[in-house]
Amino acid sequence: MEDKKTIKRVLSGIRATGRLHLGNYLGAIKGMIELQNNNEYETLYMVADVHTITTPYKIEELKINRREVLIDYLAAGLNPKKSIIFLQADVNEHTELAFLFSSIMTIARMQHLPTFKEKVIQYPQNATMALLNYPILMAADILIYKAGLVPVGIDQEPHLEVAREIARKMNQMYGTDFPEPVRFATKGEYIPSLTGEGKMSKTVINSFINLTDSLEEIRKKIRSVPTASVAGGEMSSGLKSLFTFANLFIPTEVENYKKEFNAGTLQFVKLKDAIAEAIFAELKPFQESREKIASDQKYVDEVIADGAKRARKIAQQTIKEVKQKMGLL
Ligand code: TRP
Repeated sequence: MEDKKTIKRVLSGIRATGRLHLGNYLGAIKGMIELQNNNEYETLYMVADVHTITTPYKIEELKINRREVLIDYLAAGLNPKKSIIFLQADVNEHTELAFLFSSIMTIARMQHLPTFKEKVIQYPQNATMALLNYPILMAADILIYKAGLVPVGIDQEPHLEVAREIARKMNQMYGTDFPEPVRFATKGEYIPSLTGEGKMSKTVINSFINLTDSLEEIRKKIRSVPTASVAGGEMSSGLKSLFTFANLFIPTEVENYKKEFNAGTLQFVKLKDAIAEAIFAELKPFQESREKIASDQKYVDEVIADGAKRARKIAQQTIKEVKQKMGLL
């Protein structure tokens, strides 16, 4: 017999800073789809548009991007019949809960997070309160649905640590029943940058492949990954990245390419083009599906309205509980 209580909730989101890239797809979306298609989970997937305002942004771009990311979700296989798909800004309770949570977290704790420190270096003029609060809002996103599982990339681990800390403290201090959320990892949780340094990121130019890139664009980008290695010697970081892609996209051919590398006969361009073609083959169905969905904006409106309604229903319940327990209701 199905016991409602054994059904675990899942929540995830991606910021609306631009269209999605291959790193988002492999690190987060694939995991989101896997959990959506497993009956043991109830899945909620949002576009983190409120998080987008924690770093400098353009109003007109945000308006477009948050919808585009939602269309990307649908094209990638997130299904509104199986998941609650919504825009974070449509559910006011997230920011309300984040404020309540901020009362139990110290400034010192938040200032020490690596993600905060990095962003302050990237945008020294914008060390805002919203940026400091970023992980608290993320904890609210997750805990407002009492979600225990979060499919995100490995870089988000420090944020999940904050969410667990908040859950523990709230439960101790106010007697709430928040779960301590854990990360759901995918095979492609760390996708290297095409520059050969760091991870693929929307905010680093020439580092990423867009999900909508054509075969020619992908080929050009992969060909530009710096491979300067002495054949047969130590692999450069660019070449290591290429082998990461090879492991993900042409797993059965990797051994052969490694042998060629060790023998000093590897033609880099052959390896690169094989990877580019395999990436494109994986993206092609997404691109075709995206075109169809984007041509039906009424459908997209319906998905957004329905998702907001369903998400709000759960979120309102949690806010009510928390306010009661905190003496505010
Ligand atoms: N911080 C996440 C990222 O940059 C995005 C995000 C916001 C998120 N709220 C979330 C992810 C809640 C998972 C759960 O990728």
